Amino acid sequence: MARNLALTSALSLALVACQSAPSVSAQTVAAPATPAPVAETPAPAQSVPLLDYQSIHHPVTARNGMVVSQEELASRVGVQILEQGGNAVDAAVAVGFALAVTLPRAGNVAGGGFMMIYDAETDDYISIDYKELAPYAAFRDMYVDENGEVDLDAARREYTASGVPGTVAAFEVALENYGTMSFAEVVAPAVELARNGIEVTYDLAQSLEFAEDKLGSNAAARAIFYHEDGSYYQPGEILVQEDLAWSLEQIGQYGAAAFYEGELAEMIVADQEANGGLITMQDMADYEAELREPLRFDYRGYELVLMPPPSSGGVHIQQMFNVLDEFDLAEMGHNSAATMHIVVEAMRQAYADRSVHLGDPDFYDIPVEWLTSDEYAEETLAAIPADHARSSADVNPGVAPPPESPDTTHYSVWDSEGNVVSNTYSLNYSYGNGAVAAGTGILMNNGMDDFSAQPGQPNGYGLIGGEYNSIEPHKRSLSSMTPAMILQDGKPYVVTGSPGGSRIITTVMQVLMNVIDFDMNIAEATNAPRFHHQWYPDVVFVEPVGFSADTIRAMEAMGYVFEEAGYTMGSTQSIMRQGDFLYGAADPRRPGAMAIGY
Ligand code: DON
Repeated sequence: MARNLALTSALSLALVACQSAPSVSAQTVAAPATPAPVAETPAPAQSVPLLDYQSIHHPVTARNGMVVSQEELASRVGVQILEQGGNAVDAAVAVGFALAVTLPRAGNVAGGGFMMIYDAETDDYISIDYKELAPYAAFRDMYVDENGEVDLDAARREYTASGVPGTVAAFEVALENYGTMSFAEVVAPAVELARNGIEVTYDLAQSLEFAEDKLGSNAAARAIFYHEDGSYYQPGEILVQEDLAWSLEQIGQYGAAAFYEGELAEMIVADQEANGGLITMQDMADYEAELREPLRFDYRGYELVLMPPPSSGGVHIQQMFNVLDEFDLAEMGHNSAATMHIVVEAMRQAYADRSVHLGDPDFYDIPVEWLTSDEYAEETLAAIPADHARSSADVNPGVAPPPESPDTTHYSVWDSEGNVVSNTYSLNYSYGNGAVAAGTGILMNNGMDDFSAQPGQPNGYGLIGGEYNSIEPHKRSLSSMTPAMILQDGKPYVVTGSPGGSRIITTVMQVLMNVIDFDMNIAEATNAPRFHHQWYPDVVFVEPVGFSADTIRAMEAMGYVFEEAGYTMGSTQSIMRQGDFLYGAADPRRPGAMAIGY
């Protein structure tokens, strides 16, 4: 704790001056000296501390169950399953399939991700790793052309960009072990949405228009997502996905076997063969979702439960919190220059380590213990200057990334028995590689770009990888997806997670920090302005509103370079439990996200 003082005393005058300047962030404005008249606050029947009229960010409140996802219809499907007596896992699988219909840019059948479950009956925390696998025919330099350059189209856009998908395998593992309903029951709402059609929202209409370059160049995708004359779906029109309805029915009827060995597998593989893809029947048949031991550690009296490798998020959040634990962040101020300096330097070190030490734990011994040790935190701290920014070139060399437009999605579910699910899954980019396996209505992922195609060469998120994340047959690519939970007194207190490519880790970390260090309710913790640093490029990305000019100036004087990043810092979907109530917060950064409780 003394480090806070050591740091602030050594900071430049400019920095000290800026600390006294209030941030423009609404979330960080302290309660006024004179409280609002008490009579205006209705007396709660029971202690409901978060329905606080002193805040402008209010979570959705419910008593029995809650579903928070990126899309309203999918959230409704989840609540409907809970109301029918299904548990959180039943609802989570139903939401996962529904999102494949209603949020096709990220919801998926043929993608990959991570699911974390809290089983209230056994008091167990389970994590399911269903990241895509490199096909057997994949090899280390498969995307490197004759000039030694990475062929970005091959890694991201062509059929060779798809890894062997994991979503259906994971949903079966989850349902069979922790659910109560059949595959047919949980798939049914998605089948109905695909067959009867969904009303196209403004968000979906816009996203399909933006994706025309990708989806329009694949015959099967074009036939689904655009009118026959090539015109765009308009908001309010009905989008029917008949092939997808059939595929989902197959899964409902025959389970994961339909997808990995049955007719669907045959259709996907035939499509791969016809278009230069690498996925074979053997790849499909051999795919297995892996149960992994979640990472658990303490931070300021709370326990955190996070996704272990091949997610890099859990390890690096622990690594960063080990450093932050030495500072009194609440005292230093939310998003103050002093806090941001320490957090950014912790981020810089974590992302530098990510480029070398993280990969598939089935292929390498990931040095998790060392990265998350107190000794390593001490070493990291000792290297952080008190009064100025480091240069990433001094921490490790790298290259700036090309910008890309990504998409993944997260959802959280909590049921009346106390079971909790946190699921992040993805096609990697929006609409994956844009290829629909003919006849299936199923969009394929471009998860192979999560590998490092060449050591030192950044992927689509600017992430630099090393040998541990090189391509090898049936290896999982390193991921940033980080489903997360905070426990209080050993029980789930907060569940969260986010899309955002490389920004997932720092986004999830800031939500956790906002709750733990800054005592925010879950809506405040969600809405609060975010920042990000990932070692390379050596830039602090900030959201457009919420960082005072004084803070920025003070940090620029310390050597930091800022870039406005728009509102692209994730989209968290979170639930907090306090007393008898559940509080849901859908991230306002992307349209359509919705928390629904009952
Ligand atoms: O696993 C990963 O890290 C990436 N496939 C995640 C992609 C992503 O978050 C895209 N979202 N906005």
